[in-house]
Formats: sequence, C-alpha cells, structure tokens
Amino acid sequence: MRKVPFITVEGVDGAGKSSHINDILEHLKSFNLSPVSTREPGGTDLGVKIREDILNTKMTLEAEVLLAFADRAEHIYQIIEPALRFGMPVVCDRFTDSTYAYQGSAGFPFEKIDELKKMFQKGLEPDLTLIFDLPVDVSMDRLKSTGKDLDKFESKSKEYFEGVREVYLKLAQENPHRIRIINSNQPIEKVKEDVKFAVLDFMMDFNQKHIKRNKHKI
Ligand code: TYD
Repeated sequence: MRKVPFITVEGVDGAGKSSHINDILEHLKSFNLSPVSTREPGGTDLGVKIREDILNTKMTLEAEVLLAFADRAEHIYQIIEPALRFGMPVVCDRFTDSTYAYQGSAGFPFEKIDELKKMFQKGLEPDLTLIFDLPVDVSMDRLKSTGKDLDKFESKSKEYFEGVREVYLKLAQENPHRIRIINSNQPIEKVKEDVKFAVLDFMMDFNQKHIKRNKHKI
C-alpha cells in the first residue's frame, strides 16, 4: 500500500469536474500533503501532442485507445509514479475509466482495455475516483452555455453521452471500494460540500489503514 493516495476525477464532458479539482487539492493540503495536479490526455510534453490529436482528429477507435494508452504510459513513467514514490499525492483529471467510458461505450471491447491496462499500468490503480454525475441533458446544456468551440468529443450526440454515463455508473457499481459518485446536478455549494466530505472521509480511512499496516511491521 502506498503512503500517499492516487486520486482520479471523472465524468461526462460538462459535468463540471474541472472546477472542483482545486478544492480537492486544498483538502489534501489540509493533511499536510503536497499534491500534484495533472491530467489525461496531456500530462507530459508528449501527452500535450497526443491530446491535440485525440481531441481534434477523426480516427478509428483502435487508434484512440492506443493513443490514450501511449499518453498514459508516458504519464505514469514521468509524473505519476515518481510523485507517489516521492510522497506526493496525485490528483489526475481523467484516467483509465475515461477509456472504458468513451471508447468502451463506442464499441471498443472492455476485455481489450483490461489487457492494455494490465500491460501498461502494471498494477497501478487509483485509490479513490470521484465521478461527477448528472443527466446528459443538463451536461449538454452546460457545455453549450460556455460558448467555447466544442472539440470532437464535446460535439457528440446525446445518445453517445448517455452511453458514456452508463459505463461510468456501471464502473461505480462494480468498484464501490474505489469509486464515489458526486451528484453534480445540485447547487455548486452542495457539490463542494459533497466533494469535501468524500475526500476527508476517504483520507481518514486511508490514513487509518496506513497506521494499522505500520503497527503490524513493528
Ligand atoms: P477533458 O480534459 O475533460 O476536456 P476539457 O478540458 O475540454 O474539459 O477531456 C478530454 C477529452 O478526452 C474528453 O472528452 C474525453 C476524452 N478521453 C477519451 O476519450 N479517452 C481517454 O482515455 C481519456 C483519458 C480522455
């Protein structure tokens, strides 16, 4: 077990996850930790180039998945593992659950994602994943109301996003020990409270397990 946690943040485009990442970092700092904030795709120099391609170039699902894992392999090697080894928690905006949700829901077989995960993550799993969830109608309205140019994924249909959300909810059901759903369809102050509760509750548990484990060693 690691001394510091690896936390990932997920959700359909427009679910508002990015606006809560700063709060998650602040909650971790209240435990005297120095968290690293990063994202996928795009957490390394190579990743920035890959992100540009994944988000803007039309390609096969196979190419999307392989680029997502190329980005991830480099990201784990350059940023995530060194930070965790150094005692710095990592908060990552999207990780492998996004590949299941976005490429898996589009038809790329889940078992093949499982295999790539085994090959390239070598057992690295998040300790906590927060999935920001809300009805697709609401997330699509939020995306449109930002007025920004939408990328390849953000421009997809309602049916596509329904599929992405369904996969996220299924992953949450299958991994209750790791994944917590945050209801994003509430006033922002309530969402912030729920995020705070989720992170603090998780940290208490994480620290407790760590203390117990160290006692055993003595
Ligand atoms: P995100 O960074 O949340 O976009 P923004 O900065 O515009 O809020 O996500 C980037 C997109 O990448 C998102 O639409 C989902 C997609 N994606 C995949 O399709 N597969 C993946 O494995 C990952 C990590 C992201």
